[in-house]
Amino acid sequence: MTPGLFITFEGLDGTGKSTQLRRAVQYLRKCGHRVRVTREPGGTRTGERVRDILLASKTGKLAPLAELALMYAARAQLLEEVVRPALARGQVVVSDRYNTASFAYQGYGRELGTATVRAFDRVICGSTQPDLTIILDLDPERARGRALGDTRRKSRLDRIEAAGMAFHKRVRAGYLAVARSAPERVKLVSADQSIDELQRQIRALIEPLLARKGRNSKVEDRKSKIENRKSKVESRKS
Ligand code: TYD
Repeated sequence: MTPGLFITFEGLDGTGKSTQLRRAVQYLRKCGHRVRVTREPGGTRTGERVRDILLASKTGKLAPLAELALMYAARAQLLEEVVRPALARGQVVVSDRYNTASFAYQGYGRELGTATVRAFDRVICGSTQPDLTIILDLDPERARGRALGDTRRKSRLDRIEAAGMAFHKRVRAGYLAVARSAPERVKLVSADQSIDELQRQIRALIEPLLARKGRNSKVEDRKSKIENRKSKVESRKS
């Protein structure tokens, strides 16, 4: 167990995921937590270059396995450079997508199956799994409508967003299946409600983890004080 806390946000494009993530991070900081925010694919220099390949429409058709391998390549870099060091320092890591997206988009959407995704996940993520994954759930037709209606979006749909409605319906089914398979860790919230109400529900999911983290770090503090005292006594003896 690491002293930090790992929280990931997931959902189809157009569910308001990034807005909710931003507000949750503001809240965590206000509560005095050190927060490291990141996103996937990307979050590191190399990862952002891989993201360009993955999302640029000029990449054209990628073999589904190549797409999955690139997602995990960017993830391996992010884990090494950002996530594991931050968790070891006791920070709260908040990521805009992580491995649940690979299960939903590549496992279900591209129909590679969960066993294949799990094989990559075991090697690359190993025990670095989120403490909490929040999936913003919305009907894919509505999510698409919102994504297209968002005038702040500078670019048009990226390579993966441009996949058809049947693909996005499979992705949503994938998210629902992951939530069913790990209900204690993966939480679904309906994105079909006001921004404030959604944020209230998200905070209610995060708060018990913060309380647990607080208790753990007090135990860690006590342990390290005892260790310090022991080593002072030892050094006096010698
Ligand atoms: P995102 O950053 O949410 O897009 P935007 O910048 O438009 O908000 O995600 C980029 C795309 O990558 C998104 O369509 C989902 C996809 N994706 C996968 O297919 N598999 C993955 O493992 C991850 C992390 C993302």
